[in-house]
Amino acid sequence: MTKVLVDKYSKLAELAGEFFVRQMQPEDITAVMEIDRDSFPNPWPENTYRYELQKNPASHLSVIQTRERPRVVGVVGYWLIVDEAHISTFAVHPEWRNRGVGKVLLAAMLRQAAALGAVSAMLEVRAGNAAAQALYAEFGFRPVGIRKGYYKNNGEDAVLMTAGHLDGGGNPHQEDTK
Ligand SMILES: CC(C)(COP(=O)(O)OP(=O)(O)OC[C@H]1O[C@@H](n2cnc3c(N)ncnc32)[C@H](O)[C@@H]1OP(=O)(O)O)[C@@H](O)C(=O)NCCC(=O)NCCS
Repeated sequence: MTKVLVDKYSKLAELAGEFFVRQMQPEDITAVMEIDRDSFPNPWPENTYRYELQKNPASHLSVIQTRERPRVVGVVGYWLIVDEAHISTFAVHPEWRNRGVGKVLLAAMLRQAAALGAVSAMLEVRAGNAAAQALYAEFGFRPVGIRKGYYKNNGEDAVLMTAGHLDGGGNPHQEDTK
C-alpha cells in the first residue's frame, strides 16, 4: 500500500515538474533553518545540521525547491538504521503548505530510503499535530504507541507511527514483532 502511494506521488511530481527534490547541501542550512523556525518550537541549531550533513553517516537530508526562481521550500531527513528509516525532520515553509509539496517530498524520501535498503519507516509526531498525522496515514503510517511527555517545550505526548513494506514486499521481521 505504501509503495503504491509513493509511486503515485513521485509520478505526480515528475508530471507537475514544478518542484525538484535533491540532497541537502551545507549552503542550504540558512534557508532550512528559516523553514524550521516557522515550523518547530525547538528548531535544530546550525551545528546540528552541520553534524547531520557532514559527520553522521546514517543521516540523509533532502530539500525540495521550486524549479523557477529556485527557492528551498521544504526539508526532510531520516536516519537509516539497518533496514529502518527513522524520520528525523520534516517541514514545509508555511507559505507553501497544503499544495502537495510535503507529499512530494515525503514520497521522494521514502523512495530513496527503500532504494537504500529500508523496509520500514518510523517517526514521532506531536499528539496534537492532526495535519501531519493525516498526511502520514495517507502514506500507510499507523500509530503504534505513545511516548509520554516526549516534547520538552510543553510536555506534549508523541505518537509513534510506523509504515512497513517500503520495498513493496513482505517483511518477515516485522510480522514477528507485531
Ligand atoms: C506536515 C507538513 C510538512 C505537510 O506539508 P504540506 O506541504 O502542507 O503537505 P501537503 O500539502 O503535501 O499535504 C497536506 C496534507 O496534510 C493533511 N492536512 C493538512 N491540514 C490538515 C488539517 N487541518 N487537518 C487534517 N489534515 C490536514 C492532509 O492529509 C493533507 O492532504 P489532503 O489535502 O490531500 O487532505 C507541514 O504542514 C509542516 O511543515 N508542518 C509543520 C512542521 C511539522 O509539523 N512537521 C511534521 C513533524 S512530525
